[in-house]
Amino acid sequence: MPQRILLQLDTDPQPSTFDAVVAVDAGTDVLLRHGGVTAANVVGLVHGAMFTRGGGDLASTAIFVGGSDVAAAEEVAAAVRKAFFGPVRVSVLLDPSGANTTAAAAVVAAARHLPLDDPRAGLEAVVLGGTGPVGQRVTRLLAGRGAAVTVVSRSAERARAVCDRVRGAVPGASLEALGAAGPSATEPDVAAALGRAALVVACGAAGVALLDGAGRAAARARVLVDLNAVPPAGIAGIAATDKARDDGGTILYGALGVGGTKMKIHKEAIRRLFQSNQLVLDAEGLLAIGAELEQAKGA
Ligand SMILES: NC(=O)c1ccc[n+]([C@@H]2O[C@H](COP(=O)([O-])OP(=O)(O)OC[C@H]3O[C@@H](n4cnc5c(N)ncnc54)[C@H](OP(=O)(O)O)[C@@H]3O)[C@@H](O)[C@H]2O)c1
Repeated sequence: MPQRILLQLDTDPQPSTFDAVVAVDAGTDVLLRHGGVTAANVVGLVHGAMFTRGGGDLASTAIFVGGSDVAAAEEVAAAVRKAFFGPVRVSVLLDPSGANTTAAAAVVAAARHLPLDDPRAGLEAVVLGGTGPVGQRVTRLLAGRGAAVTVVSRSAERARAVCDRVRGAVPGASLEALGAAGPSATEPDVAAALGRAALVVACGAAGVALLDGAGRAAARARVLVDLNAVPPAGIAGIAATDKARDDGGTILYGALGVGGTKMKIHKEAIRRLFQSNQLVLDAEGLLAIGAELEQAKGA
């Protein structure tokens, strides 16, 4: 078998060392790292990867698209796919800012305790800080599973824009946008949404408290997930290391508690890139991988 070559295409000037280490740990033989990649300059890089190997050997070349500017990385990924034609293509993984793997891991964690795959369950979820890259993807993945999702932001307008975008990706999605001025859920509609939701996922920026003690008291959720690892906690009372900690009937996950699953999904996704030259892995594909890993664990 030819060596497994991964082209790491990053929108930042310096390609992420985190993504590079994961690529190597997942079995990449040769890692070619490119920074400052844009939709305008990526085509030559892609052609170099897709025209050098033929037939079955193409599966041993793959592309990872990352970077801290998620919108720019999505444009790069679209340009990469446009550069392919017919069978002349290589597999692609899109995970800018770790947003897709993190969102997939959060949903996998929640699905351990909630019937996310049962459309009749009428599950409701609240995504706090839902306008960031991770929150948008958590919203999209949950909506795709049939959950009714309330997206909360400091700006109801920004939350509405996210709902519109997710509706474009998940037709028929049940979504509500709310604005919250602070972490105490003093707005009656925010408190009501928290009271109805079986799942609350906090996706706020690092070190930002989105639900304080009073806010958390409004929540009746079975599962609370906080993806912020930097103190103070995004949700009061959750430690970053919490992993399915049972707090009087409420199941708690912190960022590190979800992080192990995120790493497993990321590595498995890289391995799968080299099994075919056709794969395109975005958040939904990563969630499917996470669900398969869970199933294999339980088998
Ligand atoms: N565990 C992991 O492996 C992993 C990987 C990636 C990310 N993360 C964590 O996941 C979380 C979400 O990541 P992200 O990249 O999506 O975050 P982000 O874009 O930095 O922030 C998410 C949202 O937080 C809100 N926010 C920002 N500053 C705020 C403030 N001072 N007060 C209240 N809200 C504020 C903003 O929403 P509005 O302006 O609309 O209110 C923003 O859209 C972060 O904590 C990040 O560190 C974890």
